[in-house]
Amino acid sequence: MAKYHQFIEEKIKKIQNTVKDGVAVSALSGGVDSSTVTILSHKALEDRLKTIFVDNGLMRKNEPEHVVSTFKNIGIPVEIIDAKEKFFSALKKIEDPEDKRRIIQDVFYQDVFENYRKNINAQFVLQGTILTDIEETRAGIKLQHNVDIQAPYKIIEPLRTLRKDEVREVAYELGLPKEIYNRMPFLGPALAGRIIGEVTPKRVEIVREATAILENELKNSRAFQYLAILHKDKVTGIREGKRDYGLQIEVRCWDSKDARIASPTKLPYDVLDGLAKRLTTEIPGVVSVVYNITPKPPSTIEAI
Ligand code: XMP
Repeated sequence: MAKYHQFIEEKIKKIQNTVKDGVAVSALSGGVDSSTVTILSHKALEDRLKTIFVDNGLMRKNEPEHVVSTFKNIGIPVEIIDAKEKFFSALKKIEDPEDKRRIIQDVFYQDVFENYRKNINAQFVLQGTILTDIEETRAGIKLQHNVDIQAPYKIIEPLRTLRKDEVREVAYELGLPKEIYNRMPFLGPALAGRIIGEVTPKRVEIVREATAILENELKNSRAFQYLAILHKDKVTGIREGKRDYGLQIEVRCWDSKDARIASPTKLPYDVLDGLAKRLTTEIPGVVSVVYNITPKPPSTIEAI
């Protein structure tokens, strides 16, 4: 029998016994955790589960449309909630990493998600919180977006005891497509977590382009996770013989099993070279690219 068969059956029953004839909401980001919870709960509740994708303006290129169409193909309707303005106005002038995380959590849970939930009178919320999220928040390392939420509804977290590699196995056994069970981790605060300094639509656009280039160039690297970070400081560069005081992008690429510890992937130099060329020629204003060579710890995987 498949390794997680019993786990899956138990979780489906537990969701059914908890929600009974009520209505539940799942906020899908397209990552393996929220995707796994969405399909588990859809199996348990069918059309009493409402699935939404909150477009916070901080997602990767074409991500909202892509996630919705992937789930449509497996028979789960997903509604996109456009909340870009709310997130950008709340993030104005905010630079501190934990302030950013807290604000994104508050706009999501207290405003956007709560309004939706109240409107449809859902008493239950399904969440893809995993063990590493809980441990890192409790240890005071980072506030993970979905941990320790104070809420006037019941939160159901079927994956609380699992780590990323185990969630992937559950997703595989649930029959999710490979592009989901193999999907690289992506953080709750989304691209805002990859911007040092203020998060503005313009700065998100730069890191979104850099991410698209990086994900394309490194897709065959077999690394656990790779990401582009926009630095706050500008650096002096040179273009066509003239001074160009421009932007710096940091590239990180990690080998890891479950994100608790990680080491930088020893990428071949020509791959790094190709990245530097594309990032400095395809993104206006970028004059410098650096590769992070620090393991976790003392680094963390993300920059904020
Ligand atoms: P760090 O940066 O803490 O990241 O070494 C460990 C893993 O968790 C992801 N990450 C998050 N995932 N919500 C999430 O769902 C978050 O707020 C969050 N912050 C970091 C990160 O991408 C890495 O895989």
